Amino acid sequence: MWMSPEMGNIFLQLLAVAALCFAPARSDWLPGTATFYGGADGSGTMGGACGYGNLYDQGYGINNAALSTALFNDGASCGQCYLIICDYSKAPDWCKLGKAITVTGTNFCPPNWDLPNDNGGWCNPPRPHFDMSQPAWENIGIYRAGIVPILFQQVKCWRYGGVRFTINGFNYFELVLVTNMAGSGSIASMSVKGSCTGWIQMTRNWGANWQCLAGLAGQALSFNVTSTGGQTIVFDDAVPAGWSFGQTFSTYHQFDY
Ligand SMILES: *[C@@H]1O[C@H](CO)[C@@H](O)[C@H](O)[C@H]1NC(C)=O
Repeated sequence: MWMSPEMGNIFLQLLAVAALCFAPARSDWLPGTATFYGGADGSGTMGGACGYGNLYDQGYGINNAALSTALFNDGASCGQCYLIICDYSKAPDWCKLGKAITVTGTNFCPPNWDLPNDNGGWCNPPRPHFDMSQPAWENIGIYRAGIVPILFQQVKCWRYGGVRFTINGFNYFELVLVTNMAGSGSIASMSVKGSCTGWIQMTRNWGANWQCLAGLAGQALSFNVTSTGGQTIVFDDAVPAGWSFGQTFSTYHQFDY
C-alpha cells in the first residue's frame, strides 16, 4: 500500500524504463500543482495550522507543505506525508527531471476568493494544491517557475523515535498535541485515561490538537490512539503523574501505518 521515498525514486526510474520498453506502469499518482512559501531557508513555514510549532523540534523538519482546502480536510490530514514529483511532461522548462521529494502536511493554505482558481487562487476548492517550503519545492521545480504541475501520492511517514504528546490547556480542559507520528502520520480517533478514570473519548479541536474536558491533574495519563490507516496503539502511562501544562512527553512506540 505504502511507497517509501526510496521506492518512489526507484519507481521513477522504473517508470522511465517502462515508458521506453513497456506499456505504462500502474499509477497511484494524482495530478495537482505546487508553489512555495516561507523564504529560502523555509523559516517562514514554522508554526502553521496543524499546531506543530517549531517543525525541527517536533520531528518534521523543512520538507513540509501547506495543504489546500481539498487536501487539508479541516485538519484531519495534518501530519500526513506526500511524495511529489514535478510533471515534466506538462512543464519541461520548469520541472527538474527525475527528482522527487516527500513533504509532511503541517499547515493550511487558505482559499483566496478574490482570485480565480486557475489564476492565483491556487488553494481554492476543489484544487489539490501544495504550498511547499521553498527548500522542499526547489528539489523539483526551477525557482523562476513559481508554480509547477505535479503528480503526488500519499506515502508512509518515517520519523526518528516515538510518538510524542504535549499537554496544553488548563484546569478541566486538556488540549493534547500529538507529534512525530510515523505511518499514516495522522490520527483518526484518540482517547485518554487518567490513573483514576476510565477511558475518555477525545475530539479533535484544531490541527493535530485533541481535547477533552476532565480533571486529570495529578494523574498519570495513558492514550489510546488510532491512526487514519487503522492501526491502534495504547500508550500506557505515557505521561507521569507529576505532569504540568506545557510539557511534552516522548514515547518509545511508533506507528507503521
Ligand atoms: C482503543 O481504541 C480502539 C479503537 O477505538 C478500541 O477498539 C480498543 O478497544 C481501545 N483499547 C482500549 C485498551 O481501550
